[in-house]
Amino acid sequence: MPNVLVLGATGYIGLPFSQSLLRSGNYTLYGLARTAGKARTLTVNEITPIIGDVSDTAKLTSLISSTPIDIVVDTTSAYESSAQLLEALISVSRSRIQTLANEGYATPKLGFVYVSGTWVHGAPETPVSDLHPVGSSLSKSAPQDAVVWRCMHEQAILAAHDVLDVAIVRPSQIYGRTGWIWTSWWGPLLEAKKSKTTEAVEIPTKPASRPAIVHIDDVVSGMHAVTDRIHGLLGSWPVFDLIGETVLVRDVMEETRAALGVTPPLTYIGPQNPFHEAMNVTANEKSSRAKIVLGWEAKRQSFIRDLPVYVKAWEAAQE
Ligand SMILES: NC(=O)c1ccc[n+]([C@@H]2O[C@H](COP(=O)([O-])OP(=O)(O)OC[C@H]3O[C@@H](n4cnc5c(N)ncnc54)[C@H](OP(=O)(O)O)[C@@H]3O)[C@@H](O)[C@H]2O)c1
Repeated sequence: MPNVLVLGATGYIGLPFSQSLLRSGNYTLYGLARTAGKARTLTVNEITPIIGDVSDTAKLTSLISSTPIDIVVDTTSAYESSAQLLEALISVSRSRIQTLANEGYATPKLGFVYVSGTWVHGAPETPVSDLHPVGSSLSKSAPQDAVVWRCMHEQAILAAHDVLDVAIVRPSQIYGRTGWIWTSWWGPLLEAKKSKTTEAVEIPTKPASRPAIVHIDDVVSGMHAVTDRIHGLLGSWPVFDLIGETVLVRDVMEETRAALGVTPPLTYIGPQNPFHEAMNVTANEKSSRAKIVLGWEAKRQSFIRDLPVYVKAWEAAQE
């Protein structure tokens, strides 16, 4: 049974992903936690907790060597440590391959699944594919400012394929349950609801934008499919965009206003920071390769229809 180490196991994506692998009965799970309280959450979920920070690569590589860990999945938001982590994984995998070679054995490479995001595509005017390296002469798009570094990091991961079995999963904007990214749009409406204001509510986006979104359960099933195939079953280009559908911002906001029972009108003030800018992009990518290679299909594709359920879940999570 493969041993999987999930970095970010206590997060929005990391925890349900770890639970999905466990439910399959095919994996033993280890998870990184930064506090004793979060370590307890992992224990309760049958995940062996490792207390520490992702920047403590000595601790992680020691665990990977001694357990031994077969697959590492990075679902953290520890962006500043990404390069250091990749270097450590390359080093520990290379060392394992060399040690086993000295003993006269072949061994699988360490598997590494990295969670990126479709924001690397920026706001392309024509359809783009996850086969085209973003920012290269093949691609027709440039990444959002907030994630320029991520395109370079994806390239560094792909370049490590001689030592690691790698995959990059790119979810679009994720909704469902605690879905924290929606706070930038829905937060002002919740404030208006609480204060019972009669003044227009300012929303930091543009109503005509059409971003790509995907439900958390579909992200988890896509990541699970990638993890199942990490040792050689992903073909020569293991990069997958995960998109459920695209939605018009105006529809999202008007339905949210109704769901929260807010009566004043909305004023769209446009993005106020790089995060808002990224949330605001009109998407032009599809998930065809995830369908072809992974057999993945988003099961949730009725965001606007079911929006009251998602808004209620998000609202409850704010308390
Ligand atoms: N949410 C989305 O809509 C979305 C869409 C596309 C891509 N993504 C990408 O998916 C990844 C995960 O996102 P998420 O929504 O799951 O975020 P999240 O809920 O904030 O989870 C982040 C996880 O990383 C852990 N973490 C952060 N810094 C760490 C460090 N220095 N050492 C160890 N652990 C650390 C957090 O631990 P604590 O629990 O201790 O804070 C948490 O477990 C990110 O790279 C994000 O850019 C997210």
